[in-house]
Amino acid sequence: MIIAVFSKPDYDCVIGERLYYLFDTGMATAMLILRATELGLVAHPIAGFKEERAKEILGIPDEMRLITLVIIGKHSNEINPVLSDAMKLGEKHRPPRKKLEDFVSINNFRDKFNE
Ligand SMILES: Cc1cc2nc3c(=O)[nH]c(=O)nc-3n(C[C@H](O)[C@H](O)[C@H](O)COP(=O)(O)O)c2cc1C
Repeated sequence: MIIAVFSKPDYDCVIGERLYYLFDTGMATAMLILRATELGLVAHPIAGFKEERAKEILGIPDEMRLITLVIIGKHSNEINPVLSDAMKLGEKHRPPRKKLEDFVSINNFRDKFNE
């Protein structure tokens, strides 16, 4: 299954140049992915698509931004041999994550830049 996630700025809070529709749609998408995971499915958001073409195929109105497609499937018993070694490893073990201290700062982010 592929879920198309789309929205437009005036569906959400606009404060000057701060448009919150992408933020809130991202949060909703995260919940969707969590729920799919809870159901034992695999869900991956992707940005690798042609927005205008996908909108045309799906009949999504022009004023909408197609933000992501969430690819949902089931784990296969066998790992596809076309995957790279890193991808194969990622299928069985959680991929490495950045350490919190690499991107979190206390009080002032500028200090982080100057480290
Ligand atoms: C904004 C965004 C765009 C992505 N676009 C693609 C994509 O076009 N193709 C793809 O194979 N994976 C894409 N991914 C990565 C997969 O969704 C990835 O499996 C997912 O982020 C889980 O990451 P993990 O394997 O590190 O847990 C994208 C991820 C994000 C956050």
